Amino acid sequence: MAGWIYVDTDIQRLRQISGLITPMALRVAVTLGLPDRLRDNPATARELAPGLEADPLALDLLLAHLTTLGVVERTAAGYRTTGFGALLGAGAGNGLNNLLHHDSAAGRADLAFVDLVHSVRTGEPAYPLRYGQDFWADLAAQPHLREAFDRQMNDRMRDWIPQVVANYDWSRFGTLVDVGGGHGTLLAAILAAHPAMRGHLVDLEETAAGARELFREHGLGERAEVTGGSFFDPLPAGADACLLFDILHDWDDEQAHRILARCAVAGERVLVVESLGESTEFDLVMLVHFGGRDRGLHDFERLASAHGLTLESVTQVTGGRSLLEFTR
Ligand SMILES: C[S@@+](CC[C@H](N)C(=O)[O-])C[C@H]1O[C@@H](n2cnc3c(N)ncnc32)[C@H](O)[C@@H]1O
Repeated sequence: MAGWIYVDTDIQRLRQISGLITPMALRVAVTLGLPDRLRDNPATARELAPGLEADPLALDLLLAHLTTLGVVERTAAGYRTTGFGALLGAGAGNGLNNLLHHDSAAGRADLAFVDLVHSVRTGEPAYPLRYGQDFWADLAAQPHLREAFDRQMNDRMRDWIPQVVANYDWSRFGTLVDVGGGHGTLLAAILAAHPAMRGHLVDLEETAAGARELFREHGLGERAEVTGGSFFDPLPAGADACLLFDILHDWDDEQAHRILARCAVAGERVLVVESLGESTEFDLVMLVHFGGRDRGLHDFERLASAHGLTLESVTQVTGGRSLLEFTR
């Protein structure tokens, strides 16, 4: 009968991990710019409030809670950001600020978690329920969200690039199409490492424009082409391989089939890079933001086989990402 025996600490722990207060307090601190504002210039809530268009008493409540978290500390001159809190600053260089800010792509999308129950009941993303259109349409309508999302993708890719370039033999391909390739930081690095290769990146026009600029900066000339358009439409034909890096987890099975169908026609091989369902938290993020999910190896084999694609190899390219090589 041990099933119903519990101790007080279990209740405290459940209360702690189910609380919305602290995560929201941190996100509001970032959204109001408190970590940067209070870094070198301590101030009281009363002094800060007018500049932030905040209520002084409510702001003081927020700052008092942030003090208990070690994000700010009290000094004689008012609240000051601690070294720990400075990690949340816009210039901290760790990407956290961009993930948490209410008006960044990720921070805004995370607010849809209040409708997680809708996603669990229907299997649909909660994002459109909250914002009236899906994530990608919202990014297209609001350039600052698109910019924040592209920056988030570039931030995470920066650390992975050396491993992804080194851990897989890209030199086997004469031409590589990077499907949904973002700003092309990875493709540029692959082409730089293999001067005989050519690349072609496809992404939505606003992001594709960033890739053109990046390739120009890297002096890749005619070796790197860019097409602004949708991967639901026909892709550049005749490639040795099509790369789908963190693409399929954004989509449900029906849409993933449509993307794979385009790749199977355009390339001899299809290279799928994903995390193979290693994080339950990330799965829920994909569900709520996009109606997608991380899939396991067998899910990908099943999806790909419908397009005449057979799994040839699995290569761990970074700590959290595997490259599945399919051939037709
Ligand atoms: C999760 S990001 C991955 C970007 C890049 N592959 C990487 O790993 O950094 C998904 C990418 O798909 C692009 N995307 C979304 N819908 C698209 C569509 N219909 N056609 C082409 N690209 C699309 C987004 O603009 C974004 O760059």
